Amino acid sequence: MAEAKQIMPDVLSIARSVQPIMLKSNNPQLQLPGEERKFVLVIMGTYYHTPTYGRLDVLRDVVLVVQEGKIVRIANGHEETEVQEEFGLAEVRQLKAGQYFMPGFIDTHVHAPQYQFTGTGTDVPLMEWLRKYTFPAECSFQDLEAARHRYSLLVKRFLANGTTTAMYYGSLHLQPNLVLVDSIERLGQRAVVGKVNMDRLSADDYIEDTADGLRDAEEFVTYTLGKKCSRIQPCITPRFIPTCTPELMKGLAEIAQKYGCHIQSHISECCGEVNCVREMHPEYASDAAVFEEMGLLTNRTVMAHGTLLSDDDIRHLARRGTAVSHCPLSNFFLGDAFFKVNHALSLGLKVGLGTDVAGGISPSMLSAQRMAVVNSRCIRAHKLAVSGGTTVTPEMEKDVITFKEALWLATVGGAQALDLADVVGTFEVGKDFDALLVDTNLSGTSGPFDVFEGEDDDQRFEKFINLGDDRNLIEVYVQGVCVKRGDEFLLDGSNVSVKATEDDSDRIMSAPTPVEPEAAYLDLAHRADSSDEAASVDVGAAAEQSEPPTKRSRF
Ligand code: GUN
Ligand code: FE
Repeated sequence: MAEAKQIMPDVLSIARSVQPIMLKSNNPQLQLPGEERKFVLVIMGTYYHTPTYGRLDVLRDVVLVVQEGKIVRIANGHEETEVQEEFGLAEVRQLKAGQYFMPGFIDTHVHAPQYQFTGTGTDVPLMEWLRKYTFPAECSFQDLEAARHRYSLLVKRFLANGTTTAMYYGSLHLQPNLVLVDSIERLGQRAVVGKVNMDRLSADDYIEDTADGLRDAEEFVTYTLGKKCSRIQPCITPRFIPTCTPELMKGLAEIAQKYGCHIQSHISECCGEVNCVREMHPEYASDAAVFEEMGLLTNRTVMAHGTLLSDDDIRHLARRGTAVSHCPLSNFFLGDAFFKVNHALSLGLKVGLGTDVAGGISPSMLSAQRMAVVNSRCIRAHKLAVSGGTTVTPEMEKDVITFKEALWLATVGGAQALDLADVVGTFEVGKDFDALLVDTNLSGTSGPFDVFEGEDDDQRFEKFINLGDDRNLIEVYVQGVCVKRGDEFLLDGSNVSVKATEDDSDRIMSAPTPVEPEAAYLDLAHRADSSDEAASVDVGAAAEQSEPPTKRSRF
């Protein structure tokens, strides 16, 4: 195995002038229904995982035992008979050659109600995109029957792609979010889920009063905790600074404190958003400073994007224990800058990976990993271009990540971001068994790649990460329970396949159509968006006029 790259930060050496706001979950411990509690799973085979950043470890021909959802034993193959006797088993399941287990993917940033328009609407910048596509789509989830159907498709699609844990944004209205939680619970996924809050600068029919928003956010939290399902955690979700008043943000922070909830939002995503926040809050130096003042930076906070965070911002988030969800595909479409993973990690930041459906046009965490690698190589190319020369220096190479590092982000990094590092992300005794069974034997047109004579396990596994897709994922496990095998979702009474049915096509026809942004909103979007030359001049002028003598960094 290759040596781990020495870029992991020495966290202790980071100045501790600010104490992390430590939140602890109120959720109960693992509770599986009767039969599943007794269930013992013993599988002999090869397991890949990335406990160390930059290193791919293999547990070759081991016997892994899962009881009540947790890994209780990892033994060498030659101890098979002993294990069999210890657990009173008639036989031990053996994986076939070319089949491997790996940890389930952890997607740290998904907008559940945006799944329906994933792969479309890539023609406008963020602020306009929200108004034109996103708000109408999210608003339409008030039709609860449609919500039930679409959320069922969403959770199935994500499970099919190997996402065993997702951090979801719901929509504004309370009821459809309860449907989302019910769908996740029923289909067996692990998730952190939030009701979106916004009390300003949204569409007239997609906005809430501050008091109503706070009441509904708390009701959502108590509903989710009331499920007593350790797989599902509630999340406080101020959409982003432009759509939330300080009163709302402070109130939400109090709810998060009261229940020990996760928090999610968007931070320093693109020029349009950042310039908008500077205009609205000229007294603060950055998005991070605003969130700090509102009490929203905690050890259970995940902020999406962060491409325009300064090093001071990153250090501050790191001190707070706040994570960033790196969403490379979305950043290419809606963002204006690169997020530098290695640099952020070296400053002590927790970093996970996200699809950001539908800003990111793919629900696949395999795609997110590949995009993270490509993003890192774009940074290298950019540095070379700026140098004007033909010499690649070590400094230019610093930001490049490999598939192993991307896989770490998609598993361990995500687990750290969601405060689940003791629970999932690797195969270790004491952790829950959230895993994917990868089959690399699907040659020809039945699979996405071919395997050639002489290729070993490591090469086959690397091919899967770089070329594979959901066809290779023949079993998906969450908390030791197989939730999907082949085309079947085993916890779903109806066993509906992810393939569209006639019923689905009715729904597709009735999905909302995009609306044209109103003139006033467009003005704001343009003023704040740097991609419009004339508009960015406006922003500069406005910012100059309103700039206070000193900005509060609040750190
Ligand atoms: N900022 C505020 N809302 C959103 C959203 O839905 N997607 C993305 N990418 N950024 C946002
Ligand atoms: Fe997002």
